[in-house]
Amino acid sequence: MFVRRAALWLTWLAAALALAACADMHEPKLYDRLGGRPAIQAVVDEFVANIAADNRINQRFARTDIPKLKMHLVDQVCEASGGPCKYTGRDMPTTHKGMNVTVAEFNATGEAMLKALRRYNVPQRKTDEVMDLLGSMQNQIVGK
Ligand code: HEM
Repeated sequence: MFVRRAALWLTWLAAALALAACADMHEPKLYDRLGGRPAIQAVVDEFVANIAADNRINQRFARTDIPKLKMHLVDQVCEASGGPCKYTGRDMPTTHKGMNVTVAEFNATGEAMLKALRRYNVPQRKTDEVMDLLGSMQNQIVGK
């Protein structure tokens, strides 16, 4: 009896997983769901403005070419979210090498992005996806 019930449950689970995978396949890319390049550009502008206003991290960018940084960030988020862009900047460890970025600074940068997404009322699930994207880069940026 138990074995039969377990088998039934497993069949149900397999079907549910297949359905979920199927739904995933047909869901538009995060890039499109965010609203394409113009929306990403707007969020990146806000993100960089938030960084510039944050005394915990803004000194780090004192000698940075800001328009170039913004362009690279837009390309990076666009490409990573499945959009038709090509990131042409340096890779993350090379870019942040010698900076010794701390976890606190990385978190402050995350806050700047979260604030930008909130400012544009990006819904929670998409916000989580963008924040996960950033979070996945922590090991390539912190302590280099
Ligand atoms: C997930 C978080 C981060 C992402 C996605 C990111 C991404 C980038 C990108 C794409 C560039 C431009 C690369 C290039 O020009 O080739 C850059 C440059 C830079 N990043 Fe980050 N970064 C992050 C976190 C941080 C943090 C926490 C700091 C320090 C507080 C930082 C400091 C810098 C500085 C100072 C530059 C300019 C380097 C230069 O002018 O040569 N970044 N970052």
